[in-house]
Amino acid sequence: MPNNLAFELDNPPTHPADNPRRSPEEAVLDRIGRIIVNPDFDLKELKDAADVLKRLAETPETALNSRPEPFSPSLFPHQAEFVKSRARFSAFIGGVRSGKTYSGTAKALSRAFLLPTVGAAVAPTVGMARDVLVPQYAELAANRIAKWTSSTGDMILDNGSKILFRSADNPERLMGLTLDWFHLDEAAQLPRRVWEVLVNRTISTGGPGFITTTPRGKNWVWRLVEEWRDDPDASAFFAKTSDNPLIDSAEIDRARRQLDSRYFRQQFEASFEEEGTRVYEDFTPQLHVLEESWQIRDNWPIYIGVDFGWTHPSALIWAQLSPEGKWFIFDELVEQHLRLERLAAAILGDPVTLAGRTFRARIPYSKVERIISGIEGLQSRQESGGESALSALSSLGISRAVAARSSILSGINAVRAKLLSADSEVKLFVDPRCRRLIDDFSGYKYPEDRNSEPDGELPLKDGIHDHTMDALRYMIEFVTPLRQTDWRFGF
Ligand SMILES: Nc1ncnc2c1ncn2[C@@H]1O[C@H](COP(=O)(O)OP(=O)(O)O)[C@@H](O)[C@H]1O
Ligand SMILES: [Mg+2]
Repeated sequence: MPNNLAFELDNPPTHPADNPRRSPEEAVLDRIGRIIVNPDFDLKELKDAADVLKRLAETPETALNSRPEPFSPSLFPHQAEFVKSRARFSAFIGGVRSGKTYSGTAKALSRAFLLPTVGAAVAPTVGMARDVLVPQYAELAANRIAKWTSSTGDMILDNGSKILFRSADNPERLMGLTLDWFHLDEAAQLPRRVWEVLVNRTISTGGPGFITTTPRGKNWVWRLVEEWRDDPDASAFFAKTSDNPLIDSAEIDRARRQLDSRYFRQQFEASFEEEGTRVYEDFTPQLHVLEESWQIRDNWPIYIGVDFGWTHPSALIWAQLSPEGKWFIFDELVEQHLRLERLAAAILGDPVTLAGRTFRARIPYSKVERIISGIEGLQSRQESGGESALSALSSLGISRAVAARSSILSGINAVRAKLLSADSEVKLFVDPRCRRLIDDFSGYKYPEDRNSEPDGELPLKDGIHDHTMDALRYMIEFVTPLRQTDWRFGF
């Protein structure tokens, strides 16, 4: 590695150890000097520093740039403070598309281009690491990437810095690393353990660690930020979606109208909202609600999910499944005291008079592949003189109905995998006419209990939001169950 490497910074660092004019070797030798003057120095720390020296001497196989440019990405005002903060630990808590990932990337690269370092850029899943982080780093590092090994997720920059792209779905896998810095994107989706493992990986280097995330209720990220109030070496920065000048304000207004207000404040204003956590956190009208009414395709199968009720409403949803496994939910019927004869008429495609309106399904029964209910479809019903709903439907001419035997948890996971798959693909879309279903996606919650995590608990049967949600999961899980492969992560 050439000795005339110079590093320049926009805002000169205040810490003498970060003198940018020194060569990397000088910086490391200096650090070794500081380590060994300490009478009880840490041998491991010395070894790590020696390793860095060795790496510098070896020069990666690729030609490194002999005169790297200073790295100065363009930043909006709400991002600059975070990127330039010299706190050991920091967080950019922002609304969706407020520029979190961009800011974290800019901060990480500022560090990486300053000195040859090893850092980690960590996302909740492999899909997010590959589809969100790597492209953002590549865009900002641009022609200063010396080498990219996609199989391992390692990037080497033209000054010799190494960036490890990792997913956090298995925190234990991060344990072997020694890091000069780390960037954890969408941290609030992860358990606190990931943060702690990463912090541990920087103990010997004292390097900075930072998270970029949208809040998720008052979870550990909120507690961390609270703990940081009295910590001079840690800072949190907040941004709303509207702080990003690239976002169309009409889009934010649309979300404000469609989302429940607490969810809107969390997602768009980066507010730590106290509430029962939503079961389907990933449901976002912008992603999941179609712009226009669904055009029914000729040859794709159509299914109906049904949750039988009486004093609580019955819920039916009609959906079409694409050959690639994408669901399009195009019709819904939610009604109290709906007798099975009328429910059958709705399935058959006949007009059904309801309180104040007439409902008619968009397709006749002949086009329906299957009708899927929960196991209660087989239980005897008082309202039908002891007969089960499925047997009553059968005598009304509807024979393609089944009762799905499944647990609430596995059904929810099947729906989640469609809302946002592990590889960040959306595979569930809702016709804008299904207003009830759209509302219920946001309103379907776990019980409000601040002291316990929602994991493992069952959603609230609030009698409002659970009916369409039940009908939906019966259908999705029965037709497109989660296979083992949907859960595979890992580079
Ligand atoms: N300083 C910036 N300059 C140019 N584009 C930016 C900047 N900050 C963010 N963006 C763009 O704004 C969009 C949203 O930013 P992103 O970081 O992906 O948001 P978030 O991670 O908060 O959802 C992206 O297209 C990103 O490239
Ligand atoms: Mg992002």
